[in-house]
Amino acid sequence: MTREPHVTLSRTDVHLWIESSAGPDGEPRNLREHESVLSPEERNRADQFYFARDRAQFVMARSLLRRCLSEYVDIEPAEWEFEFNRFGKPAVHHRLGVDLDFNLSHSRGMCLLGITRERPIGVDVEKRDARISLPDLIHQVMSEPEIEELRRLPARAWKSRFLDVWVFKEAYAKARGQGISLPLRDISFLFPDGRTPQLVLKPSLADRPDHWLYDFVKVPVDFHAAVCIGRRRDEELQFEMREPEPL
Ligand SMILES: CC(C)(COP(=O)(O)OP(=O)(O)OC[C@H]1O[C@@H](n2cnc3c(N)ncnc32)[C@H](O)[C@@H]1OP(=O)(O)O)[C@@H](O)C(=O)NCCC(=O)NCCS
Repeated sequence: MTREPHVTLSRTDVHLWIESSAGPDGEPRNLREHESVLSPEERNRADQFYFARDRAQFVMARSLLRRCLSEYVDIEPAEWEFEFNRFGKPAVHHRLGVDLDFNLSHSRGMCLLGITRERPIGVDVEKRDARISLPDLIHQVMSEPEIEELRRLPARAWKSRFLDVWVFKEAYAKARGQGISLPLRDISFLFPDGRTPQLVLKPSLADRPDHWLYDFVKVPVDFHAAVCIGRRRDEELQFEMREPEPL
């Protein structure tokens, strides 16, 4: 059966696909079918995970990516090919001649995929109850102004604010394609009104905040998620949340 592409994406559209990789019992659904669309290299990589749940999450995320890309272009899910920059950011292989950009994130059973056309994008999702050691991470990841803002909040709100800052920082770092090799403490996501993020960059980033649009992504309550997209000044972008067809 040939799959007809049926989703259109303009240069100002941002599509955010979200899928839970676990069924109601917490187990992954249709894992074999998802595996069947992966490349031999991806299956190889999947087999290197020690824990079955990490393996399943990787498989489900790659399957989501392949199935969603096939919604836009007449290429079968199993036929997509990818290439990677030197920091590991995957992109559609240039030999396919497809101008879609994407970024993928997965955390504890939740996959988030952002797709744009000729526009850098980064996404990040993190589970809220993640067992993290706040005191260490705050000083490794947060900038001085972020820590100052954090200190003005009651201690019970610290983990939630830390995770908000973290998902925005990762989404920005992933949009740039350099991941956590960027100097994370020179990037600030501040929340002057408590809700709306504001990006501030030190000169070491050689970048300008107005080159980016960033926002929270609506995900189930126990997750935090953010997206960051490249844009020219004041360009309006349209966001759409989408759910893939179940396999
Ligand atoms: C990318 C990175 C931020 C991942 O963060 P994470 O919270 O563990 O994982 P997420 O689920 O949010 O994202 C993982 C996905 O991001 C994508 N990704 C990988 N590297 C990326 C990069 N540099 N930029 C953007 N996206 C990247 C991949 O699709 C990956 O999924 P996959 O492993 O299933 O293929 C982190 O691993 C990183 O910074 N890597 C760069 C490391 C580096 O500098 N390496 C130097 C080369 S030796």
